Amino acid sequence: MSNENIVWHDHHVTKEERAAIKTQKPCILWFTGLSGSGKSTVANAVESRLLALKKHTYLLDGDNIRMGLNRGLTFSDEDRVENIRRIGEVSKLFVDAGTIVLTAFISPFQKERDAVRALVEKDEFIEIFIDTPIAVCESRDPKGLYEKARKGEIPNFTGISSPYEAPAEAEIHVKTEDQTIAESAEQVIGYLKEKGYIN
Ligand code: PPS
Repeated sequence: MSNENIVWHDHHVTKEERAAIKTQKPCILWFTGLSGSGKSTVANAVESRLLALKKHTYLLDGDNIRMGLNRGLTFSDEDRVENIRRIGEVSKLFVDAGTIVLTAFISPFQKERDAVRALVEKDEFIEIFIDTPIAVCESRDPKGLYEKARKGEIPNFTGISSPYEAPAEAEIHVKTEDQTIAESAEQVIGYLKEKGYIN
C-alpha cells in the first residue's frame, strides 16, 4: 500500500514534557533470553520495584502480546522478526508517552534487537541479557515445552531447533544462576539509578 498521501503530525506536547511530570527518564528495558530463562520473572520484579518508587511503567510480555496484538504470528524466523518489529514500534510509543517500558520476549536475533535500538534515542534502549544456560532452562521447563520440543512436537523451538543469538554487548548482563530474583531486579534498578533514569 502506498504511503504517499500520509503526512506525519507533530504533537504539541513533547516526550520530555510528558516525562518531566513523571520524574523519570523514559526508556525501553529490553529483556532477552531463552524460554524459561526468567525474563518475565525478573521483568515483573523490576516493574514492582519501579512501582514502589512511584515510576510510571508498562510491561509487554511475550505470551500475552501473542494472544492479542500479535495473534496469528508463528515461531518461524519471518514471524519472529515481525513480532519484534511491532513490539519495537509499540515500545517507542510508550517511550514517547514518558513511560519506562519493560519488554520480555525471547527476541532471538541480534539484527532485530538492534533495529529496535535504532528506533529510539541512543540512551533510550537498554538491552538486558537474561543469561541462563539452556540446561537450566530445560531443567526448569515451567511450561513443559522443552520436553515437547525434544520429542519433536514443537517445531522451531528456540535453543533446540531454532537459533538464539546471545547479545554481545548488552547494557546489563544478568546471570540468574548466581543470584536470587530480588538480586537480579536490584541489578537493573541499580543501573537505572547510576545512569540517572530514576532517582
Ligand atoms: S520471539 O522469539 O521473541 O518471537 O518469542 P516470544 O514472542 O517471546 O514468545 C516466546 C514464548 O512462546 C512460547 N513458545 C515458544 N518459544 C520458542 N520457540 C517456540 N517454537 C515456541 N512455541 C511456543 C514459549 O512459552 C515462550 O515463552 P517464554 O516466556 O519465553 O518461556
